[in-house]
Amino acid sequence: MDISFLEKVPLFHGLDPKLLEHIHQQTIKKTYQKDTILVQEHEAGETMFMILSGKVKVSNVGPDGKEVILSVLGPGEIFGEMSLLDDEPRSANVTTLDQTEMLQLRRRDFINIFESNAEMLGKLLATLSKRLRHANAQIRSLALLDVLGRIAKLLLDLAQKEGRKLLDGSVVFRRPTHQEIASMVGTSRETVSRMIGELARDGYIKISGKDIIIREDMNKAFP
Ligand code: CMP
Repeated sequence: MDISFLEKVPLFHGLDPKLLEHIHQQTIKKTYQKDTILVQEHEAGETMFMILSGKVKVSNVGPDGKEVILSVLGPGEIFGEMSLLDDEPRSANVTTLDQTEMLQLRRRDFINIFESNAEMLGKLLATLSKRLRHANAQIRSLALLDVLGRIAKLLLDLAQKEGRKLLDGSVVFRRPTHQEIASMVGTSRETVSRMIGELARDGYIKISGKDIIIREDMNKAFP
């Protein structure tokens, strides 16, 4: 049986092939179209998801309908584990941003696998620690940076995570919409448009069709 796709998920790196085979038998592989809601806040959770390809956004919606994007997750990352671990309702909505290929594990199989394998449990804890670090960085930037600083930091983070380096040291990547940026840094779309204009005028970024180019000196200007 082909278990190679399981190795795309860091949670399973370096595991005994026999265990991988066992996990493989418990998972279901599914493909979802863009804009599919996979997990809905407040609902009971029965499934954990592992992303093989594509991206999802993790978000909450306020009483006024305003969306806050907590995170964007991509290949190799997991979600939906929290409700399975603490038996509480889903903590956020998770929606596909692209066509997305996913492996799914049901609650009972998830619990069995993690209870019977200390190495897997360690990897899950490392994943959750990484997420907490990311959340801390977000809290820090909300508390300490102004809107321009938060947008610049988000763009620098995306450049590091998703960017491709050009010959002159700039980095290029597919740009999020102004509304997505607004939902990630807690401001309005209008403010994002104004700030992006300011960064472009100052020569820190360049918009090129669906891409954005981040100049090397933006790192120094927004350390
Ligand atoms: P669960 O609460 O079951 O359903 C929503 C999922 O979103 C949650 O599990 C986590 O997997 C994921 N999630 C919640 N908060 C964050 C966050 N701050 N960063 C990344 N993923 C998150």
